[in-house]
Amino acid sequence: MTTVPWPAIHALDALAKTTKSKVPVPLQERYTMEDMWYLDTEQARPMFEQQADIIIHHGYTGIVDVGCRHGPVNQILHDKGYTDYNYFGFDTSKDPISVGKSTWQDLPNINYEVMSWNDDYQVEFTVDVMIFSGVLLYIKDDIKRQDLFLEMMSRNNCVNAIIQEPFHSQQHWDDRLILNTITDGGLDWLQQDFNVVEYHMDLPVFAGRRVVYDVTTKP
Ligand SMILES: C[S@@+](CC[C@H](N)C(=O)[O-])C[C@H]1O[C@@H](n2cnc3c(N)ncnc32)[C@H](O)[C@@H]1O
Repeated sequence: MTTVPWPAIHALDALAKTTKSKVPVPLQERYTMEDMWYLDTEQARPMFEQQADIIIHHGYTGIVDVGCRHGPVNQILHDKGYTDYNYFGFDTSKDPISVGKSTWQDLPNINYEVMSWNDDYQVEFTVDVMIFSGVLLYIKDDIKRQDLFLEMMSRNNCVNAIIQEPFHSQQHWDDRLILNTITDGGLDWLQQDFNVVEYHMDLPVFAGRRVVYDVTTKP
């Protein structure tokens, strides 16, 4: 059997190996870089590469990244030679934010803050796109998720988004884990106001079946 990158926090360490009990995948507000290490492997890169390709395809130059960790999309954009953009990423997790800040400290157009999506904030550039990568599943109620998404988009005067979410059935998984997935109807409300193009991938990492949504405003 191939070993796939699997984060320790999702390994049911606290439970006996033989347990049949189900446990929710923790959706925390504070992570270390180590907690999410599997997302920074080569195997997980297509999840972020697809986001970079959407940005490049639309020529977006003003990017807000919600719950960004260290903002992996920046390295991919730079690797692809796409460097002329403004980026603001925020997250409640201090550790990845300090990594992002120090990695990009020499570039004044890439900025990070420790902050919550419930906080009031203002960016100083026109926001073309907001990235919600692995964050909307945090909000369990469909109406509250829709409200928060639309409220954040309107606060930033933004009409386009990139959403990334784990698919509702997985290959690299432990059936004792419960994850709040939203790919089976939890984003249907997007269709009312937006055009949505879906990119599906099956990556050899924990919960590697992912969907990236290219969400653009209807003309
Ligand atoms: C599953 S991770 C995804 C991180 C990153 N977007 C990615 O795709 O690699 C969810 C992130 O949301 C952050 N988060 C949780 N609650 C938050 C909140 N209220 N405001 C901002 N970020 C939050 C967590 O700290 C975590 O880094």
